[in-house]
Amino acid sequence: MATAKTKTVWFCKECGNESAKWMGRCPACGEWNTMVEETVATGKKNGPAAVSVPGSGHKPMPLSHIDSSVENRMSLNNGEVDRILGGGLVEGSLVLIGGEPGIGKSTLSLQIPLHCPNLRTLYVTGEESAKQVKLRAARIGGDDSGCMIYSETLMENIIAEARAMMPDLMVVDSVQTMFSQNVESSPGSVTQIKETAAMLLRFAKETGVPVILIGHITKEGSIAGPKILEHIVDVVLQFEGENRGTYRLLRSIKNRFGSTSELAVFEMTGKGLREVSNPSEMLIPMHEEGLSGVAVSAMLDGTRPFLIEVQSLVSSAAYGTPQRSATGFDVRRLNMLLAVLEKRAGFKLSVKDVFLNMAGGLKVNDPACDLAVISAVLSSNFDFAIPSDVCFAGEIGLSGEIRPVAQTDRRVIEAARLGFKRIFVSSFSSLEGLENEGRASAIEVVKVADVPALCRTLFKN
Ligand code: TYD
Ligand code: MG
Repeated sequence: MATAKTKTVWFCKECGNESAKWMGRCPACGEWNTMVEETVATGKKNGPAAVSVPGSGHKPMPLSHIDSSVENRMSLNNGEVDRILGGGLVEGSLVLIGGEPGIGKSTLSLQIPLHCPNLRTLYVTGEESAKQVKLRAARIGGDDSGCMIYSETLMENIIAEARAMMPDLMVVDSVQTMFSQNVESSPGSVTQIKETAAMLLRFAKETGVPVILIGHITKEGSIAGPKILEHIVDVVLQFEGENRGTYRLLRSIKNRFGSTSELAVFEMTGKGLREVSNPSEMLIPMHEEGLSGVAVSAMLDGTRPFLIEVQSLVSSAAYGTPQRSATGFDVRRLNMLLAVLEKRAGFKLSVKDVFLNMAGGLKVNDPACDLAVISAVLSSNFDFAIPSDVCFAGEIGLSGEIRPVAQTDRRVIEAARLGFKRIFVSSFSSLEGLENEGRASAIEVVKVADVPALCRTLFKN
């Protein structure tokens, strides 16, 4: 690039906003201290290049003339991954898998081709040597006959090889290690990441080859630093989970071809990732009867109901200002629930420290957990254990009323399936779906209207 002139610009690491000078605060996303300096070649376009989708043509056309037949989907022979993709990988899609280092991104993306016989895969590794990939493949096992390993980081070479091979699937590990000659900055910089993603998107759309792109996550939790990457790709899957534990959660946070907020659960074993098709098995830890401060919530994540244990500890405040701390639950919502308990049911919690924890490292935002949260808090406050075959599903309103939640019937059926004997729901819940379900007769559905009614029923003796 001897002839191209260069200039210095500033990019926001969070949103990719470009600016001619440094600023303490990004004017686009409002984040502080996120501007980084980069050199770009002038006279060249640096943003994502124009993409032509096969079959769409280049001229405007009436909506009615556009072919709307269902996309071609390819099964990846992995029930959990297929499900969160919305029923398989769509032809020509660009899928970003993000997560912290060591969580299992490379393992999953190597496991997919190894467990899919007849799939010709081009696995591009910029992070590990071909030998390291071989060692990993030996651990995972499976059929490696259709898997080509390519150790390269220059995007121009990668695209050329991919066009020559025309694989059924391409994996690129990782976006931060790849670079293009078109851009004069180091691998991992905002401009390089944008250019790499744009080149892969163009390749995927022109050839119909689906591409899985791996990206690291920053400390703040956004994928690959700039949010701009999430805008470019079709699907974003994010690996979560405590590194200490062996369970891994894969969450769909963007999906142009399916629903978002779907969740898949895996367990990291000595031979790769095992699908956990019944997530309740990990979220309700086994322990002895009679622990106070524990309540089970029948929640819904995406479209799937499952049960999760809510743990709470209420103790007298050691300092003047009581502490409120929540892991996996919104602390503002916890404060609201405590205020409702104080004002509507007369519990003096303002002089207590309250700690709340969701089992399994899960982040919960289903309002149906409210009922289990207040039950756990009250249980700890009175040191009165809730029987372990009882669970809850209900939202708490500001006047202390218990409101019905979406798909209560499916939650009841899931609780019955897992052997729970009683479930507390709102008095106003509709339970039409239960009539045709034989299993539901095994569980007693207790309808409660407000917080005082809940206390009377739950702690009656
Ligand atoms: P890896 O896929 O390399 O993580 P990432 O690509 O997201 O950085 O995950 C590696 C971790 O998983 C590592 O700590 C080793 C462990 N592991 C297993 O426990 N079992 C296995 O079969 C494999 C392949 C890895
Ligand atoms: Mg890796």
